[in-house]
Amino acid sequence: MSSTIQKAKQVLKNNWKEGFTIPCEGLYPFQWFWDSGFIALGWAHIDMKKAQQEIRSLLNGQWKNGFIPHIIFHNESDTYFPGPEVYAASLSKNSPEIPTSGITQPPVTGFILEEMYGIAEDKEDFLTFLDEVYEAIYKNHEYFYTHRDPEKEGLVYICHNWEAGTDNTPVWDFIWETFKVPDYQLDRRDTKLIDASHRPTNKEYQYYIHLVELFKTWNYDDTLIAENSPFLIQDPLFNSMLMASNQSMIRLGKLLGKNSEVKQLKEWNEKAKVSFQKKLYDEVQQGYVYYDLRNQRHLPYLSSSSFTPLFAEIPSQITAEALVSHFRNGKFSGVNHENFLCASFDPSSEFFNSQKYWRGPIWINLNWLIYKGLKKYNFEAEAQRIKEDTLYLINKYGFYEYFEPNKEKNKSLEKGYGGTNFSWSAALTIDLLTN
Ligand code: SER
Repeated sequence: MSSTIQKAKQVLKNNWKEGFTIPCEGLYPFQWFWDSGFIALGWAHIDMKKAQQEIRSLLNGQWKNGFIPHIIFHNESDTYFPGPEVYAASLSKNSPEIPTSGITQPPVTGFILEEMYGIAEDKEDFLTFLDEVYEAIYKNHEYFYTHRDPEKEGLVYICHNWEAGTDNTPVWDFIWETFKVPDYQLDRRDTKLIDASHRPTNKEYQYYIHLVELFKTWNYDDTLIAENSPFLIQDPLFNSMLMASNQSMIRLGKLLGKNSEVKQLKEWNEKAKVSFQKKLYDEVQQGYVYYDLRNQRHLPYLSSSSFTPLFAEIPSQITAEALVSHFRNGKFSGVNHENFLCASFDPSSEFFNSQKYWRGPIWINLNWLIYKGLKKYNFEAEAQRIKEDTLYLINKYGFYEYFEPNKEKNKSLEKGYGGTNFSWSAALTIDLLTN
């Protein structure tokens, strides 16, 4: 077994906290929704029981209406802001006993379960586990299509930048300029733990906290949020994750004989596929972009999210070719291949920042999604390139949270960016090296 896999396993073992895995010591000391999915995939290669426990622990935080929050505060910690008292999730009539946040994250669990099923040696045993959790995940999809799709077009909205996962992409700058926020007292811990220049600014955090404060005044009521939230976005990454999960839930549902769920999931997914292509594809940019539902406009900027529809098999082969042109000698690769794939924001843009969280650095989970997506369309050369770039960065620096895309800059760098011993970087490396 390669030493990289051994080291990756050690990261997961160190971050395991009796029933769930923290993304990173200090910086993220609780369980996060989309992290838990990628982490469970890593565990599936090592210890299937732990992988299953990771999903069960996530579902302990599920709300009565099917909503899954982005953080489950299983434990106490003073190294993270904002904590459970800021979210005050108990204001919602739907919240569970356990403290959680009041916003969600990309719903990856459906397709992660299918990946886990593929890895499981004892398929019968896995199907028993699947039967236990299937309804909960189905209810989560039902929540999205019931409460997050006001125009009933098959596209769901996010109401907070932290729901996107891509917290501070430059795309949100154009939303922040549409409203004003008070000056909140911020008790940030992240900037004390790691280089503050790698993190969002305090000004951005004022917006993040303001949105949470608004949701609290509405007791997290979805109808009020849909009517009033100044942040209401149809996100190509979020909707791709939901659609990929729909498709996995359809295939897994057939194994379990869940006929009515399968029928409903197919209906949601077919409608979603049509609207997605119509509404989120930007002909000028030759890629998928965000739609600002509040202000009824495209936000025409390319990011790593623009390529994730490949993973959900949304584009036609012709559209997929247009996407891949950005990796050949286009914006993301650089004309002379001066960048590793795949920067989190268009490297040719004036808003690109190669070190700052989601404004440019490479993230391993997006690379994994794009790699898998490219394989689905038989773009073998580009798929191998993104895999090699990913493993090069991991082997050079270790399991950092994010990485410098520019090859020249990497020559003199000694570290990756953000947190170290980051769980999904380790988990997805195990998967890349095992498949
Ligand atoms: N990623 C966010 C943070 O940095 C939370 O989801 O705190």
